[in-house]
Amino acid sequence: MQQPAVLFVCLGNICRSPLAEAAFRAECQRVGLSAKVDSAGTGHWHIGAPPDRRAQTVAARHGIDISSYRGRQVEDADFNQFTHIIALDDFNLLDLRKLQPVDATAELSLLLDHVPDRAGEPVADPYYGDSSGFDTTWRDVTEGAQGLAAALLARG
Ligand code: 4NP
Repeated sequence: MQQPAVLFVCLGNICRSPLAEAAFRAECQRVGLSAKVDSAGTGHWHIGAPPDRRAQTVAARHGIDISSYRGRQVEDADFNQFTHIIALDDFNLLDLRKLQPVDATAELSLLLDHVPDRAGEPVADPYYGDSSGFDTTWRDVTEGAQGLAAALLARG
């Protein structure tokens, strides 16, 4: 199969999708899956910005440095340059369906669709909450990353 290319998408690209990118990169390394990995936001507010401090802290607590990540916005070319575009919640998925060019080849799905018994669940936005929300986000993106990597490996 073509090497998977996976883009994680949330609203701001400073909380959930950078954490999903980090968790998935780590999971790919753990299971020996070779993939291109990136993240982006549907919104434009944080283009060029590093991840939210609280996201950096939770990633660092799990041994991953995401301080060099920078926010970017989804663009048309992503729909052909990635094989899988993974939305963190259903608003993101709806926005992606609206942005999707007619000749798009990427498969769109929700991250937690790849976790048995969690299909259709969103990864909640932790931005307006306190830092404990980021622990929940980390747990969710880790489960999603494991399920997605397993599915891609199984596809061969
Ligand atoms: P994210 O969280 O989509 O997980 O990166 C948010 C970050 C920023 C904003 C909203 C959500 N914002 O409105 O600026």
